[in-house]
Amino acid sequence: MSIVLRENIDWVGYVDWTVRDFHSYNTDRGATYNAYLVRDEKTALIDTVKAPFVNDLIQKVTTLTDMKSIRYIICNHAEPDHSGGLPRVIKECPNATLVCTKKCEAALGKHYDTSGWNFHIVKTGDTLSLGKWTLQFIETPMVHWPESMFTYIPEEKLLFSMDAFGQHYATIRRFDDEVSFQALMEEAKTYYANILMPYGKFIAATMDEVAKLDIDMIAPSHGLVFRSNIDKIIEAYKGWIVHKPKPKVLVIYDTMWNSTGEMAKAILEGASIPGVETDLIHVRLSNLTRIATDMLDAAGVAIGSSILNREMMPMIGATLIYLKGLRPSGKAGFAFGSYGWSQGGMRNLVDYMKALDWEIVRDTISSQFKPTPEILDECRAAGKQLAEKALELANNHAN
Ligand code: FEO
Repeated sequence: MSIVLRENIDWVGYVDWTVRDFHSYNTDRGATYNAYLVRDEKTALIDTVKAPFVNDLIQKVTTLTDMKSIRYIICNHAEPDHSGGLPRVIKECPNATLVCTKKCEAALGKHYDTSGWNFHIVKTGDTLSLGKWTLQFIETPMVHWPESMFTYIPEEKLLFSMDAFGQHYATIRRFDDEVSFQALMEEAKTYYANILMPYGKFIAATMDEVAKLDIDMIAPSHGLVFRSNIDKIIEAYKGWIVHKPKPKVLVIYDTMWNSTGEMAKAILEGASIPGVETDLIHVRLSNLTRIATDMLDAAGVAIGSSILNREMMPMIGATLIYLKGLRPSGKAGFAFGSYGWSQGGMRNLVDYMKALDWEIVRDTISSQFKPTPEILDECRAAGKQLAEKALELANNHAN
C-alpha cells in the first residue's frame, strides 16, 4: 500500500519486517527502503528498493500510474539497498531518464550494465521542472557514499534526504508522530552511530546546506518521515556530528574465567559517582551495533580483555576493529585485563585507543590470573578517575 505524503506525492517503498542483519548491522526492529513517486505534468520516481523487493515497488507504483508515464528516475545514492531495483525499473520505464551525480553514474556502472541507460547528470543547484513542482539537487558527498545527493521540492518544502536522518525501523506507520518518539530516536541514533559516524565533517557541511532550506518534511530513504519533529532530529544530528559527550562511562570487556570480569565490575563500582551514567558491557553478550551506539555519546571508556593465546579475546578484537573504522572521538579511557603467562595482546588494547586519539588517563591495569584485593582497589580508583574525567569532558563541551 502506498502512503500519501502530499497529494500526488506518495511513499512507494518496501517494509522489510524480518531483516535482522544489514551487512553486520543488527536491525532489531527490521528496516524499510523508501522510494517516493512524485506525480506532476512529468512524473518522477525518487530512488528504488533492494533488488529482491522491486516487484513490490512496481506494484505500488502501478496502482498510482503507468510505469511508462515516469519521465525521471532520481538516484540519490548508488548503494544497492536503494539502487538494486534500478535495472528492472529502468526496463519498465522506457520513457525515463536517470538523474544522478557524475560520481553516481560511475558507481552505478560498477554495479550494473548501464550501457543502455539514459543518464542526466546533475550537481548542486541544478533543477528540473516537473510542472507545478521543481526538483532541486544538492550533492552530499560521503553522506553516505561519495556520489550521494539530496533532492528537494521547494514548493512543498520537502527534502528527500537519502540515508541522512534515516532509521532502520519497520513499522506500518510512515510518519514520526505516529510512533514512539523514544523508539524513533533510538533507531535514528543507532543508524547514525553505525552508518554515518565516520563522516561527521561531511555531514556538518551537509547540515549547513540543510540550514539554508525551508523544510516542512524530511523524507529519508530508511524509516519514518519527519513532519513533526524536524527541529529535534536536526538538533540531535548537530550533537552526534561532534560526538558531544555525556557524563557517561562504559566498561567494555570480555573474560575467560571471570578475572577480567571481576576487574570490570570493580571499575564500574568506582565509576558510579553522582552525575555519571555507567554501563557494563560484556562484548559476547552484546553486539557491535549496540556497542557503537552506546559509544557515540560516552565520555569515558574502559576496555578490558583476558589474554587468550597471547592475544586479546576475539570479540574484543572485533569491537576495536569496528570502532577503529567508525572513529568515535573525544573520549578518555584506559585498558585493563588479566593474563596467565604472557601479557601479549593487552598492550594492543591501549594502542587502539591511542589510534582513536583518546586521552589515556592512566597505565593499563593488569592482573596475573585472579585479581587480588589490592588490584580490585586499583580498579575502583581507576573507575572513579575515569568518571571524574567524563564529567570534566561533558562540562567542557557544554560550556
Ligand atoms: Fe541506505 Fe548507504 O544506503
